[in-house]
Amino acid sequence: MSTIELRELGKRFGSRWVFRRVSFAIEPGRFVLLLGANGSGKTVLARHLNGLLLPDEGEVLIDGRPIKADLAACRRTVGMVFQDPESQIIGQTVFEDVAFGPRVQQISEAEVSERVAEALALTGLEAERQSPPATLSGGRRRRLALAGVIATRSSCIVLDEPFTFLDHAACVELLRYLVGLKERGHTVIMITHDIEKVLGEADRVIALADGGVAADTSPERFLTELPAYGLRRPHGTLTELSWREV
Ligand SMILES: Nc1ncnc2c1ncn2[C@@H]1O[C@H](COP(=O)(O)OP(=O)(O)OP(=O)(O)O)[C@@H](O)[C@H]1O
Ligand SMILES: [Mg+2]
Repeated sequence: MSTIELRELGKRFGSRWVFRRVSFAIEPGRFVLLLGANGSGKTVLARHLNGLLLPDEGEVLIDGRPIKADLAACRRTVGMVFQDPESQIIGQTVFEDVAFGPRVQQISEAEVSERVAEALALTGLEAERQSPPATLSGGRRRRLALAGVIATRSSCIVLDEPFTFLDHAACVELLRYLVGLKERGHTVIMITHDIEKVLGEADRVIALADGGVAADTSPERFLTELPAYGLRRPHGTLTELSWREV
């Protein structure tokens, strides 16, 4: 399992900086929420974590090594579920799509099948294993994107707005799975506007605003500070917000 560290990270498009001087480290076994208003730079930041975007300043390190030295290794370590699930679909069938990530890791075909079966079971897609992804509903395509990342068994998983299109049961299943991953020492980094769904499960909240990190705090403290970020305070305590209580 791996520690991800951002050192003085800065990214600009043309002359406009999306963010600058973003620094934090996330140890294995943490569930971190990355929050911020539309356009605050969450997706851009997430794409730096597996080297899909390269910074204009600073660097990303995994276990102390700059990722740019070995982007392929970085992408094996950090799995990403994109905000737009369509951009992630590559296989002709659900099975082939989910098998893509494990196959890149050059493991045996028997192990690929085993991992795909597990990922399809966890996401409730077994019945559609031979279906073309285009025939799935929006929510089931989102599950497919999740299954693809689950099957890679990445030590760190980054999810950009994973609840979009998911029904209540799927949200609870997803949270249950992510908490299980965290308990096994994986790192979970989730970007979401659905704070109420996950605040009870998170260990840490990092909020982006005005081109930098505006808060890096505990869920408990963040809950009391929500109005300062223009966010409505959810009803209930952190324990009541947990899916375990639903
Ligand atoms: N390829 C690009 N070229 C130019 N500007 C970009 C590009 N990608 C992102 N941006 C800009 O960077 C800023 C941050 O965008 P980003 O998508 O990271 O926001 P976000 O926090 O994920 O927002 P949302 O909550 O809407 O998903 C925005 O102003 C956006 O217009
Ligand atoms: Mg985004």
